[in-house]
Amino acid sequence: MLATNRGSNARFRNSSRKVRSEAAIASSISLVAEPATGIRLPESQGDLSPRIADYLSCHSFDEPCLVVDVDIVEHNYNSLVRALPLARVFYAVKANPADAIIARLASLGSCFDTASPTEIDLCLAHGVSPSRISYGNTIKKQRDIAYAYDRGVRMFAFDSDAELEKLAESAPGAMVYCRVLMECAGAEWPLSRKFGCEPEMALRLLVRARELGLDPYGISFHVGSQQTDLSQWDVALSQVTKLFADLRAHGVALRMVNLGGGLPSRYRARVHPVESYGDAIMAAMVDHFGPIIPEIIIEPGRSIVGDAGVIQAEVVLISRKSDTEDKRWVYLDIGKFSGLAETMDESIKYRFMTPADGGATGPVVIAGPTCDSADILYEKTHYELPLDLKVGDKILILSTGAYTTTYSAVNFNGFAPLNSVCI
Ligand SMILES: Cc1ncc(COP(=O)(O)O)c(C=O)c1O
Repeated sequence: MLATNRGSNARFRNSSRKVRSEAAIASSISLVAEPATGIRLPESQGDLSPRIADYLSCHSFDEPCLVVDVDIVEHNYNSLVRALPLARVFYAVKANPADAIIARLASLGSCFDTASPTEIDLCLAHGVSPSRISYGNTIKKQRDIAYAYDRGVRMFAFDSDAELEKLAESAPGAMVYCRVLMECAGAEWPLSRKFGCEPEMALRLLVRARELGLDPYGISFHVGSQQTDLSQWDVALSQVTKLFADLRAHGVALRMVNLGGGLPSRYRARVHPVESYGDAIMAAMVDHFGPIIPEIIIEPGRSIVGDAGVIQAEVVLISRKSDTEDKRWVYLDIGKFSGLAETMDESIKYRFMTPADGGATGPVVIAGPTCDSADILYEKTHYELPLDLKVGDKILILSTGAYTTTYSAVNFNGFAPLNSVCI
């Protein structure tokens, strides 16, 4: 537990507010803690990092390619650490497991949230000690738990009796945390009821964890990815504090709160800066826990790598469905099956840059290149692209560093998986 008091947290919050307001005056960019010359361009100039812009000015790709500026990854990590200094950051490897990203974050001291033995091995291969790795997937094979434990991993998530029994057998004495269900209201990529259990069940399971010889370490939750509502952590933490108290009454002293991910990238809609998330989360921690704050873990994925990446794609076809219709169909060489899976239900709304930007625009449907009719990116959502856009033009899709390469199909329609370079 970290001893604190409302006075010192108020000071902490006031000082972080000051940083934010200075940053807000100096720059209109939404996600940086301080104006970072050379790291990002202001939104008015397209929000493309100078390094990516330089790189793309001398590189062109025949197939879609994600270009990630690892300096922005570092910047986003440091901004989060400044915004939430009491939290230990476990980067969610699934968001983008590129070697250069893991290496840079490892060198900065980040910990890692993993979902499989492959992700664990990746982190270990980069020299990350197993004490800095959590196995955060609540759905694990027995032999994968044993594999992780053999390699020294000791932190495991669970949300069910069956998973707890597997952990007791293959990870004796491990530090286990129970994931509780969340509504995910306000999230553009909600994680629904697939993960977590009701708080009453979490209470029983954590008591049972102790009986099974495990170490009941804490509670985790995820308020939904691309969470735009700052109050959602307050809602979650009110449930978590109650669980801490109820478990104490059962003689189980939890020590950790895992805040999950949820912090946003900048897609079409503006988002709050990371400092607002830090403020809202710390205010909720202090309001609910009072002077004795438990260890805090946060597992960001999207907010660390999303804005660090840009996909270069190509316009394959521009057509209309009738001679009288204004709306053009713009088919790209990238779609739902080659990296842009988060356009499912048109949830994540990416921004596009084209060589014809600045001229007159008209409404479009944007679609991918495969034979599957589900491979439409945006049809209901109103998008406009320049009327001068041509077949063969290279188009940039911004803030695509998270959940793209890993969501890309292997060979659907014979299209190669999304390529990626880190600079
Ligand atoms: C357990 C866990 N932690 C963290 C994350 C990362 O979330 P985000 O990308 O919203 O930060 C996820 C995403 O699915 C997750 O499942």
